[in-house]
Amino acid sequence: MTDLQHYGSSLRGEWPLAPGITYLNHGGFGLTPRTVLAAQNRWRDKIEADPTHFLTFEVEDYLRAATVPVATTIGASANDVVFVDNATTALNAVLRSLDFELGDEILITSLTYPAIRKAAQYTALRSGARLIEVEIPLPLTDEAAVLKAVAQGLTHRTKLAIFDHIASHSALVLPVVALTAIAHEAGAMVLIDGAHAPGMVPLDVTRIGADWYVGNLHKWYFAPRACGFLWAAPAAQSLIHPLAISHGYGEGFRTEFEWTGTRDVTPALAAPDALAFHAQLGGAALMTRNIALARDAGTMLTARWKTEMTGPLDSYAAMAAVRLPLTGEITAARASALMRDLSQTHKIEAAVVLLAGALWIRVAAQAYNEMSDYERLCSIFMPT
Ligand SMILES: Cc1ncc(COP(=O)(O)O)c(C=O)c1O
Repeated sequence: MTDLQHYGSSLRGEWPLAPGITYLNHGGFGLTPRTVLAAQNRWRDKIEADPTHFLTFEVEDYLRAATVPVATTIGASANDVVFVDNATTALNAVLRSLDFELGDEILITSLTYPAIRKAAQYTALRSGARLIEVEIPLPLTDEAAVLKAVAQGLTHRTKLAIFDHIASHSALVLPVVALTAIAHEAGAMVLIDGAHAPGMVPLDVTRIGADWYVGNLHKWYFAPRACGFLWAAPAAQSLIHPLAISHGYGEGFRTEFEWTGTRDVTPALAAPDALAFHAQLGGAALMTRNIALARDAGTMLTARWKTEMTGPLDSYAAMAAVRLPLTGEITAARASALMRDLSQTHKIEAAVVLLAGALWIRVAAQAYNEMSDYERLCSIFMPT
């Protein structure tokens, strides 16, 4: 039997990853372990044995039961958590539910995930609200620089502030507790985009104190793809509705979000198995190990390439972003060409991004990774 806490390449067999691939992009779309896929298939079989009975009489109870371990894991009451397909859906649900008036402000930062920047732009455009994008200086010196930039962007008109818990491209962990506090002090409601955080860092959503917290379980908690959650503080629940209004409309937060039309509920129902697998891999110990590996990888790449990281080492969790040792054209097109070449020619999956006028590579660290994975990447860009 595999020792699930003997991290590194010996664990690769737990995932259906093709041989020969160096996978440094766990944060991108997650990677579902075989055991979780098997659990999902068992739910599929159960549903298909009698879809009418399951979806008419049973699905609600099963979804509620699956919510319980999720809520416990993220430090929430099960009454305040619902499953959603993904972070994008839940963030849009909040943005599109709130009534913004002409002159209201929605605050985001330069590190906001690009898809969510677009959702905020769309919301602002339709309502007459102003979108305020606060510039976070990169490379980041310390958390105080984030707080200072955000404090300068908050006004008495800020109705909603959106903060990433772990910013996607830069991989930086942001001080969400302090950011929430200063935004609340300014009178704004707070929506945290925690797409990457659950399973990467210990999470206590209640303690963060935001109005809404959105997370994915299909990234770092190993759930099947299309498994996210939306947590809402009790006072903020009646303010929001799912993007698709359906049978549950008017019957309260959980009922409204539980049925948004016929959809695949198997990722949510398999979520408890995913959490259990994460715990078998060590739970908190796995997170600690992955964080240490990502920081070591970032340190090694920076030293060998003689470049820099997007921020101080202690601002990373299980991902680090390092500037590539390149000269010449700095464009988004080059970033995607480099990422494609890494994938197609070298069988290395890692995110290459354009950020703050430079090209960076974001490397992730998961249980199946080990230092030799980053050394392979390092050699490809080694300056001659
Ligand atoms: C910060 C952040 N927000 C939102 C998302 C969107 O996640 P999803 O595609 O699962 O909705 C991502 C995806 O990586 C992300 O990094």
